[in-house]
Amino acid sequence: MTAEQLIVTLDGPAGVGKTTLARQVAQRLGLAWLDTGAMFRSLALRLGPGADTLPENILRASCAQWQFSLSGVGADTVLSCNGTPIGNEIRTEGVALLASRIATLPVVRQCLLQAQQEMGRRFPLVAEGRDMGTVVFPTARFKFFLDASPEVRARRRLHDLASRGEQADLQTLAEQIRQRDELDRNRPVAPLRPAPDALLLDTSELDIPGVLQRLLEHIRAKGGPMPLP
Ligand code: DC
Repeated sequence: MTAEQLIVTLDGPAGVGKTTLARQVAQRLGLAWLDTGAMFRSLALRLGPGADTLPENILRASCAQWQFSLSGVGADTVLSCNGTPIGNEIRTEGVALLASRIATLPVVRQCLLQAQQEMGRRFPLVAEGRDMGTVVFPTARFKFFLDASPEVRARRRLHDLASRGEQADLQTLAEQIRQRDELDRNRPVAPLRPAPDALLLDTSELDIPGVLQRLLEHIRAKGGPMPLP
């Protein structure tokens, strides 16, 4: 099986559990894990507030200064930007909202699209994001689209933040998720939507192990690799 065939795509809205699941699927299948949201977040953090209002030529030149690379596999995969591993500094709702804003700009998407496709040529991967199955890896064999109600997603975010010792308010989180959903679903370029050949999974009533099981079973049934214990 070539690297091109062994790509699992996991798309869905904010707070649906993609990052946790993508990391676990990658771990069980021994593949690298590509968190493309982390690439948009990283650029947002580095370009700073107002990045979404910069002239296109400045933005193109700024984006070109940041190179992304992957090393390792499974849960130990490390995504770096200009050689520095990306960490929890990108995991704030402020950075997420700016990421969502710059992600509406074709010049930013084009720059990251090339980096993402290059990684897909080099490594078998589990790639998570918004447009993995539709635009970045349209020929991937294993495609999933995860969804859950906005309330469930806001609660999950609250729980994630609490597990990192951070306080947040459910109403505020729900509003931030609503804003990002709107930007991500309604942009003209690469909007959030399921690929026609993706398996749709509503995870509102399922926990992470339940969803993981469904994903691994589907991959196996379609002739993919046997999961590691
Ligand atoms: O997956 P995430 O919440 O870390 O993503 C942050 C933002 O980045 C998201 O709101 C929209 C943007 N994004 C995107 O437009 N396309 C992707 N493939 C991944 C993320």
